[in-house]
Amino acid sequence: MINLPKPNGSLAIAPSILSADLLNLGEALKLAAKGGADWLHIDIMDGHFVPNLSFGPDVVKYINKLNLLPQDVHLMVEMPGDFIDAFTTSGASGLTLHIESKGDLRSMLEKIQASGLHSGISIKPDTKPEEIKPFLDVIDLVLVMTVYPGFGGQSFLEKGPSQIAAIRDLIQKSGRKIWLEVDGGINKETAKLASKAGADALVAGNAVFGQGDIEKAIKEIRQAALSVL
Ligand code: DX5
Ligand code: ZN
Repeated sequence: MINLPKPNGSLAIAPSILSADLLNLGEALKLAAKGGADWLHIDIMDGHFVPNLSFGPDVVKYINKLNLLPQDVHLMVEMPGDFIDAFTTSGASGLTLHIESKGDLRSMLEKIQASGLHSGISIKPDTKPEEIKPFLDVIDLVLVMTVYPGFGGQSFLEKGPSQIAAIRDLIQKSGRKIWLEVDGGINKETAKLASKAGADALVAGNAVFGQGDIEKAIKEIRQAALSVL
């Protein structure tokens, strides 16, 4: 069911297209795949849940036609229930909802899994890690935000490692196989902090697509994250 392969004994790198050159998106994504990226992270914003707008399901459909990597879709929208059908049929591999968004999240997560996608729950930096507890049996991934969501290129928050470690502990105690993905301000340095605290997937936007050499940037982030394990 989960179409997100985990490289053996290592960790997944998920470049975020939010920071990519949108006029040359296809080429940038091919370079990311060539550089060893594991997933593509697609940020969906509605201008309500976060003060920014980004992409819709058609972008996922078009990227899917390139047949490069699994698409990890991060819904930063107030009413995720309005968009579940559009995204489960878009070619995405997984859909992550925010715990702070509105609606019956549990039934949405069940619906995502029943559609054959991995289901994820994301927490903003000020949300208590314990709040994920009621959802641990219906999720395949937790996405820990290490910046306030809405924009790429922000700095990794100091509280990041303690949030990650707390979520790692809850996942461990659940006895379930759940990915711990970290999103926001990841670069060569902060990748080490996140990995040490227990992340097994790292999103990176600016530190990949904002760099001259996309392939090199991915390799360096992976190397840094693995160096502390
Ligand atoms: C922020 C998004 C992130 C963003 C990360 O709201 O969820 O995925 O693209 O960008 P960087 O890596 O530049 O902080
Ligand atoms: Zn994201």
